Amino acid sequence: MIKRWSASSHTPVLLSEALRALAVQPGGRYIDCTLGSAGHATAILDHGSPGGQLLGIDADPNAIETARERLQHYKDSTLLVNDNFVNLQSICIKSDFFPVHGILFDLGLSSMQLNGNGRGFSFQHDAPLDMRFNPNQKITAADIVNTTSEARLAHLIKTYGEEGHSRRIAQHIVKERPIETTRQLAQLIEKAVGRRGRLHPATKTFQALRIAVNHELEHLEAALRQAVDLLGYEGRLVVITYHSLEDRIVKQFMQREARSCICPPGTPTCICGHTPRLRLINKKVITPTTTEIQLNPRSRSAKLRAAERIIIQDDCYATPEDHAFITIAKSRGWRRPALLQKIRMAFLAA
Ligand SMILES: C[S@@+](CC[C@H](N)C(=O)[O-])C[C@H]1O[C@@H](n2cnc3c(N)ncnc32)[C@H](O)[C@@H]1O
Repeated sequence: MIKRWSASSHTPVLLSEALRALAVQPGGRYIDCTLGSAGHATAILDHGSPGGQLLGIDADPNAIETARERLQHYKDSTLLVNDNFVNLQSICIKSDFFPVHGILFDLGLSSMQLNGNGRGFSFQHDAPLDMRFNPNQKITAADIVNTTSEARLAHLIKTYGEEGHSRRIAQHIVKERPIETTRQLAQLIEKAVGRRGRLHPATKTFQALRIAVNHELEHLEAALRQAVDLLGYEGRLVVITYHSLEDRIVKQFMQREARSCICPPGTPTCICGHTPRLRLINKKVITPTTTEIQLNPRSRSAKLRAAERIIIQDDCYATPEDHAFITIAKSRGWRRPALLQKIRMAFLAA
């Protein structure tokens, strides 16, 4: 059963900065990998008019329904897909939606997910310990909390939550199992480590569980790699993150893709054969202004990074088919479709 949300309750973060970084232009093709309630998507389509197209992806079926209503006005130029962005490449291939001018990731949770009862993302609302973006996925947070060994739980809370008291928390969880609700877990953690400072002591453990349930970090790494292949020349990749683990992945990915050599430090001559595929747009990370943080406190930890697709050597086209496709693509204003066409043929043949 799909629960309807009010789209007005989510304010898009770093909106004008994201539009600028994407360099949205009329007639452009864009992918929003984290559609949410379509705040960024609506603005992309507004700036992409006339003729702009948008492929919107979200793992959460509720988000897709909310976005569909909000994007009613643009229904002929949007394609909305309820899927995980780890499948970005196959979604684009199936929908024949590539190459594109820009790809946006606005990671994490929407306000509706945080506020919506019943999904268990937040300890502010009592609900079953679920935390799945997609309710059809098998493993819930309760499964992890109630079946994982103490050592593994401690490791998970430390790695994904960067929680200093991970062993103590894991010990208490194991002692008090089964744990079925967000309130039960939050109270248990508070009892285990006490309250210090402004941050609720359960914040980091909840982040860790959500990351583990949804394989967030692995999926992000995989999706970034796919995104670069889907960009046309000078296409933009823009990512907004909300915690240091995500930001580190994005930063390292973009920096690596922008370097001409990735040999280990101290290697006398370059042996990696690496070719840069991206150019960094903002050398320094972009963060919200104090005004934005005051208006939308949820934006306080946001960081935006952006990069642009550049030409690489394997963009030389070997076969006549490639040449034919290039001619068509050039006439459509695209200069690097052959590689993508090869991916498409391989996918269709598989
Ligand atoms: C911060 S919200 C996006 C808000 C959106 N930019 C807006 O302005 O309304 C993040 C969204 O990404 C979705 N999401 C997170 N990880 C995902 C993944 N791996 N695949 C697809 N969607 C994902 C969540 O379900 C959520 O709706």
